[in-house]
Amino acid sequence: MAQKLKTIGVLTSGGDAPGMNAAVRAVVRRGLSHGLQVKGILRGYDGLINDEVKDLGPKDVSDIIERGGTILYTARCPEMKTEEGVLRAVETCRRHGIEGLVVIGGDGSYRGAGKLANHGINVIGLPGTIDLDISCTEYTIGFDTAVNTAMQAIDKVRDTSSSHERCSIIEVMGRDAGYIALWCGIANGAEDILLPEKYDYDEQKIIDNILENRRYGKTHHIVVNAEGIGHSASMARRIEAATGIETRATILGHMQRGGSPTAKDRVYASTMGCMAVDLLLQGKTRRVVGYKDGEFVDYDIDEALAMTKGISEYQCEIAVDLSHNYLKPIA
Ligand code: ADP
Ligand code: F6P
Repeated sequence: MAQKLKTIGVLTSGGDAPGMNAAVRAVVRRGLSHGLQVKGILRGYDGLINDEVKDLGPKDVSDIIERGGTILYTARCPEMKTEEGVLRAVETCRRHGIEGLVVIGGDGSYRGAGKLANHGINVIGLPGTIDLDISCTEYTIGFDTAVNTAMQAIDKVRDTSSSHERCSIIEVMGRDAGYIALWCGIANGAEDILLPEKYDYDEQKIIDNILENRRYGKTHHIVVNAEGIGHSASMARRIEAATGIETRATILGHMQRGGSPTAKDRVYASTMGCMAVDLLLQGKTRRVVGYKDGEFVDYDIDEALAMTKGISEYQCEIAVDLSHNYLKPIA
């Protein structure tokens, strides 16, 4: 039988994401309601290495479910990739009696968690990233809010773009993953979408597409460009020169990572936070929680990290097809 757990910790790591607070709140309140002591580690692995640990009571997580960001702060911590950093992190856990740790972050954070598990700390990972780029799960905490934030911003740019009969290149977040770009492409009816997964895009094809759309009477042309492709300003200059149509670039940037989480992010993050505690109480370790085929599930960390997932080819194809509002000539 698993030894009874007394103290657990929780940290947020990597890029912040709306809903992380809901997950932290769930870990704290679920833990406390099962008689555990819960400690918050500040600034991700940085705080674990440098002993920034504080007790969390039920009131410490009041009024946070509706707040974006993370009350625990977050950081990227290169030291955690070294053996010395890992040993210092383990030492902090031992000093504070932290036997179980919930790590909220992405793939990189899971790798750090796996290394802590090798030293006997029970770890559970929760998928926290606006990018949706964790292979073992169809849902990540923050994606729903971020994609809705980007969608609303693009709607606004589209208004002014249509009034001025301009072309707009709108850059959304996603250095390596184009999920936000693809979803906005469909949700905003973009005429073109550029994804890091398909880096060899053809600029001449976009120019031809803009000119063809204009011939058929479209007053705007929205190109959703993922951060991983980038260069939106220079792309806008080249497109304007080639088409003679005024073209503007808008980079949405970090506003996509902030804001009050949607109901979905609050509910899923709360559910996953509770699941993490339940798994620890069952004596489990090296697990990550995910959402697959309509259910909350958990996987071994290494198994999860070995999984791959791609962007939907079908959705890429329909996204552009749906933005045409004219009849194509019969071939
Ligand atoms: P994410 O968790 O969103 O993928 P990062 O890749 O920035 O974000 O990783 C977050 C943190 O996780 C890093 O700053 C580092 O502290 C830790 N980390 C990432 N990769 C590793 C690794 N291979 N070994 C140990 N820790 C890692
Ligand atoms: O991983 C989330 C994310 O927002 C990516 O979409 C983006 O590429 C990156 O983080 C930006 O990181 P930073 O906060 O360091 O600018």
